[in-house]
Amino acid sequence: MQRLLTSEIVAKVGETVTVAGWIHARRDMGKVAFFDLRDREGLLQIVAVPGELGDSAEIANKVRSEWVVEITGVVQARGAKQINDKLKTGTVELLAKSVVVLNESKTPPFEIDKDTRPVNEEARLTYRYLDLRSERMQKNLRTRSAMFQDMRQYLGNEGFIEVETPVLTKGTPEGAREFIVPSRLHPQNFYVLPQSPQQFKQLLMVSGVERYYQFAKCFRDEDQRGDRQPEFTQLDLEMSFVEREQVMQLIETMLIDMVKKYRPDAKMQQVPFPHMSYKEAMEKHGTDRPDIRVDKNDPNEFAFLWVVDFPFFEKTEDGGWTFTHNPFSAALPEWRDKLMNKEDIANIITSQYDIVLNGFEIGGGSIRNHRPEALRSVFEIMGFTAEQIDEQFGHMLQAFEFGAPPHGGIALGIDRVLALFQGEANIREVMAFPKDGNAKDHMMGAPSPLPEKALKEANIKLA
Ligand code: AMO
Repeated sequence: MQRLLTSEIVAKVGETVTVAGWIHARRDMGKVAFFDLRDREGLLQIVAVPGELGDSAEIANKVRSEWVVEITGVVQARGAKQINDKLKTGTVELLAKSVVVLNESKTPPFEIDKDTRPVNEEARLTYRYLDLRSERMQKNLRTRSAMFQDMRQYLGNEGFIEVETPVLTKGTPEGAREFIVPSRLHPQNFYVLPQSPQQFKQLLMVSGVERYYQFAKCFRDEDQRGDRQPEFTQLDLEMSFVEREQVMQLIETMLIDMVKKYRPDAKMQQVPFPHMSYKEAMEKHGTDRPDIRVDKNDPNEFAFLWVVDFPFFEKTEDGGWTFTHNPFSAALPEWRDKLMNKEDIANIITSQYDIVLNGFEIGGGSIRNHRPEALRSVFEIMGFTAEQIDEQFGHMLQAFEFGAPPHGGIALGIDRVLALFQGEANIREVMAFPKDGNAKDHMMGAPSPLPEKALKEANIKLA
């Protein structure tokens, strides 16, 4: 007999059906036992009466939480008093006729039928596959997938195509420390894991793609926080022939759609989203990602804010200049001459825009310098020599000499977006297999030492 999902049982009263899943809980009431059977759709109450079970009576007696079973039985309507509004299947139950054990389970190290947030973090991460069985974590995973699908559809309708870009690549100066990968075939040489696909997406604009997006894995070797992981996902996109307002509008519409669909209970504080200059944010709130909620304790308040007009450059410790956000950004039109002439550097304003939700920076982007001389000027202001510029960015400058269209884009930190939508305090709660606060993967045991042979092949000598 074909296995049905628990959600499909409701319409099968009186029929004999087979379901399969995990024993979520068992309650023994004298001779009769009740099991909650869990599958990907939810829970179903199973009634195990020895007299109805024939040869399976003994097996039914043995099964425990988290055993994997296949149960055949007759679907019964529940009496009015037994109806459980909290379950999708609360109007029915299955009177078991046979129970087959597909696999046994040890007693899990923590309770899966409860919210696992209070459980010791190391245990949760070591047994992440068990943690993910819990209702809340299943919901987070499933919402993540559904949101990704909706975003794909939205961007597809807007003429975007999804393009994957390499993970083994070259360093890019975007502010974060990078993970490095030694090359076996090229001793003394290294790949770098991308902190973002920034350069590739711009090169795709030179390729005539015009509208690119990707759910991009990004890697940053930074100190960890609740909203930071060493590897995380961006909804990364880039568009040709646009002004900054068009990129902002596209993302704003998408975010509003997402709130309406996934948080219909939430109030968006202001639509269209307000804009605030960096200067005003710093003066009024002392931060460039102000939390402008009226009631910061209200879990249903969503206060989106665009922060714009950031200074392009800031002073380095040794008295030189560095970029504040992204070296590939263009200055705002009225500052472009100053950028080219390297004048009034402290006051040049970049086209950068950040999107903030409830005090968290959930994304950022800019219009880029698509003319090679403007990009070269940025690196010159930062003190790069002509040789350094050619060595590190020659490929970009060269590409821009072949008819690069004006372009700009944005990247949303999708783990942060999900965490805020799901009311989770830590982005770990919306990632399947995150690292802990020390960037360790307790389940796989990474990072880990490597055998001498592997190190030798990778041309690595340990100090
Ligand atoms: P940026 O560096 O601002 O921009 O990154 C975009 C967004 O990614 C999220 N984010 C993170 N999320 C989790 N863990 C981290 N360690 C982490 N670091 C960043 C944030 C952030 O707003 N290439 C540019 C985008 C562009 O200009 O188009 C970039 O990467 O939510």
